[in-house]
Amino acid sequence: MCGIVGYASSTLTACGKPLEVCLQGLERLEYRGYDSAGVALVAPGLDTVAWRKRAGRLSNLVESLEAHPLPEATAGIGHTRWATNGEPSDVNAHPHMSQDGKIGLIHNGIIENAAQLKFDLQTEGYSFVSSTDSEVVAKLLGKVANEIIERTGQPDLFEAMRRTARMLEGAFTLLAVDSRQPGIVVGARHDSPLVVGLSEGENFLGSDVAAFVAYTKEAMELGQDQAVCVSGDAVEVTDFDGNPVTDSKRFTVNWDASAAQKGGWDSYMDKEIHEDPKAVADTLLGRFGPEGELNLDELRIDPEDIRQVDKIIIVACGTASYAGMVAKYAIEHWVRIPVEVELAHEFRYRDPILTSRTLVVAISQSGETMDTLMALRHAREQGSRVLAICNTQGSTIPRESDAVLYTHAGPEIAVASTKAFVAQIVAAYLLGLYLAQVKGTLFRDEIHQTVDSLRAMPSKIEWVLDTQADTVERTASSLVDAKSFLFLGRHVGYPVAMEGALKLKEIAYTFTEGFAAGELKHGPIALVEPGEPIVVIVPSARGRGTLHKKVVSAIEEVKARGAFVIAVAEQGDPDAEEYADVVFWRPACPTLLSPLVDVVPLQLFALDMAKSKDLDVDKPRNLAKSVTVE
Ligand code: F6R
Repeated sequence: MCGIVGYASSTLTACGKPLEVCLQGLERLEYRGYDSAGVALVAPGLDTVAWRKRAGRLSNLVESLEAHPLPEATAGIGHTRWATNGEPSDVNAHPHMSQDGKIGLIHNGIIENAAQLKFDLQTEGYSFVSSTDSEVVAKLLGKVANEIIERTGQPDLFEAMRRTARMLEGAFTLLAVDSRQPGIVVGARHDSPLVVGLSEGENFLGSDVAAFVAYTKEAMELGQDQAVCVSGDAVEVTDFDGNPVTDSKRFTVNWDASAAQKGGWDSYMDKEIHEDPKAVADTLLGRFGPEGELNLDELRIDPEDIRQVDKIIIVACGTASYAGMVAKYAIEHWVRIPVEVELAHEFRYRDPILTSRTLVVAISQSGETMDTLMALRHAREQGSRVLAICNTQGSTIPRESDAVLYTHAGPEIAVASTKAFVAQIVAAYLLGLYLAQVKGTLFRDEIHQTVDSLRAMPSKIEWVLDTQADTVERTASSLVDAKSFLFLGRHVGYPVAMEGALKLKEIAYTFTEGFAAGELKHGPIALVEPGEPIVVIVPSARGRGTLHKKVVSAIEEVKARGAFVIAVAEQGDPDAEEYADVVFWRPACPTLLSPLVDVVPLQLFALDMAKSKDLDVDKPRNLAKSVTVE
């Protein structure tokens, strides 16, 4: 949800680097929330924290800072907010200050016992200006810090942070600076993300590596319930009781800062859709042995344990759950074991049947989705093994899973997920084929053939991008006033229909419903009236011929009631040509792999609809990229 950045250097920088790092970091993290933004800076000689915060986009904060600059600093923190507690406004923006203004604090998460803590602080005479739970933590931290000074004569923000963290219930990443210790930034995390960036004479903190990748690619994970103190020269990690942590995992970020820039495209979403082919190709890379066999040693799961797996449950949310639905069709077909797909937030509240032979697969782009994280914890508590399919190094979900299969889509900045979706599907295919290889449910040749087909998919996606974009754009601009859209699909076309509907609703704010085409006659057909746009994913007429016929019948039924039909169909399909008003063509490919191409025109369609409505496609209203609260 919120984006957090922190920076400490060993020298007072003449060029205002702490502010520069905070603002650059916030720009890269703005996809995590854009209701308001703020910074807090400290430097030797400053009696209190220097800070500024503004409601609205980061640009509002930047304008204010240009008009009225803050002083030079040695350390700083920055925050971009997705409001959970208290409306988006200047006063509710972060940072929040301690009562005496010596400490500035930023927070991501929700503090569940804030009301009680606030009541206690008010009883002691503390006053509050905002309606946020975060200000309660700032006041509490200030009080604890002052108590330490009274007792020891020395400021110790790190210890104050640990003590404060122990008093909190809920989810939080906290960063704080103290004008009495201007060389450090301290942080703490519980059920909310925080990573450390490591460099010479300066160190960084961020909600994810995007916050600091322009400055350093060396990073370190922070574990659950850990606190950190960074200065220019040192990084110290402890648990909340102060016991040193010495085994924090270091890693090198595997993408450049330029990958998180628009690179000439109008929007990140534009750029990321055009990176679909690369996301697929990169996710396949390096996962095969010399004989073309699947090599997933990176999973570090004993093949014997894989052989024992008798059920898979996929847990995920939103777009990632639709990737999971595609995976179900493929894995059940290839491996002949049952695969359930469950929305992560429903999963753990329904007493699922889990055994040591159940493999739970958690799919998440961000690796921080709280619902998915809670589902995986629940599964592990019940004795099941969890494998994460994830796009973000150093994030919580892979860290807490037994195994991880990374998607290599590169950083996804646009709030609406596109390239990560196709990469998730590819990773799930790789997992399915690997299971089939280990369990012997497919012949070697069958695996090789599928792998060859998979390797051909990037150029097929490229073909869709190159040849269909104009038709998609024309169709979008002709339908810009449509009040609603229906999306229909069968088999693997069903999750594609769901995903197409989700993309359109989230960025073009159009009411959409995606459903299985077979359901049409069981209710949704009542919605069809003359002119209603209906997008239909048409399966190939080859192979699964009967399904094709059934979907074509569905098209005929809605056409008979005056619907405007947009078909996504295989090149040369005469029925699509005959019955649909518009066709987005895809090249021929095996049915199970077709979601990789079918979704592409739907991503473009949502993008073009949003652009035609002059909407901010990268930052749709009310949404944030990673949903770190339940
Ligand atoms: C939609 C979208 C969301 C995410 C969902 C899960 O475009 O991005 O539906 O797919 O919030 O997010 P991750 O994959 O980060 O767990």
